[in-house]
Formats: sequence, C-alpha cells, structure tokens
Amino acid sequence: METKNNRRAFLKTACAPIVFAAFGIPLLEACSSDGSDDNYGMEPTPEPSGQNPSTDGQDRVITIDLTQDMFTVLNDIGGWVNYTAENLLLLRIDAETIRAFDNACPHQGNRDGWSFADGVFTCSYHGNTYNQNCDGGLMCHSTAISGNTLTVTLG
Ligand code: FES
Repeated sequence: METKNNRRAFLKTACAPIVFAAFGIPLLEACSSDGSDDNYGMEPTPEPSGQNPSTDGQDRVITIDLTQDMFTVLNDIGGWVNYTAENLLLLRIDAETIRAFDNACPHQGNRDGWSFADGVFTCSYHGNTYNQNCDGGLMCHSTAISGNTLTVTLG
C-alpha cells in the first residue's frame, strides 16, 4: 500500500520525460521544474468570448419596453417576435406570461428562419419544429412582466 502511494505521488509530481525515462522509454527533452511551462510550449486556450451569460457567472438581464412598435405584437396571445438584436424569440402565452427563448435553432444554430403557428416554432432551414413549452427543445429564459416592461433574465 505504501509503495503504491509512493508511486502515485511520484507520477503526480514528476514531469513527463522523467516518467517516460523511469519506464525505460528514452526521450530527448528538457524538464521544466519551475512550473512556468506546464503546457509544454503550447499556446494557452483562449477564454470564450461573446454574449454567453454564463462565462462570468453573472446573469444578464434584458429590459424590454412593450410599448415600442416592434413589441406591440406581443399584446395578443400567440403574438411573437424574433428580437434578433438580443437573439430572443418572444411569445405571448397568456395575459401574465411572455415566454423568451434563445433564437438559435438547436439543429444548426440558425437564428433567422422562424415561423410560428399552432403553438409550434418552425425553423425554415431544415423544417425542424419546437413547441412553445420550455421543454420543447428551444432554450428558455425566465421572464417577468411589470406594467409595460418585460424583463428577461439570461442565466
Ligand atoms: S438549422 Fe434549424 S432546422 Fe436546421
């Protein structure tokens, strides 16, 4: 047991060429022991960028004035709009509910081919359909309505 733990500790702390040499595999490579080159000369992977709200661990909140012309369609149940500036599909469900979905089609990510009828969004690119429920395949965001203001929280 002690030998197994010693071997494990050695493998964790030794650099790769030392480990290969210990097992009889010859390598011509220098070891870096100061920890400054732990990626063995590879460029570090860049951090993701863009509007993904989860990259910084903070929710992003979008506030929408429902009296603006482009959103008046949401006054009627079944009214919907593809709010491309924020990548949202907005749909009036009932008097108290407007649902907000990410407008990226789960199939190949297209955002601009949507139509809606009978409770179903259809993407024109390949004809895939997604129902209006939050478990219908489109990414659903939480929403709240206060007066003429819709708040969408991207989390
Ligand atoms: S991208 Fe929407 S169905 Fe293919």
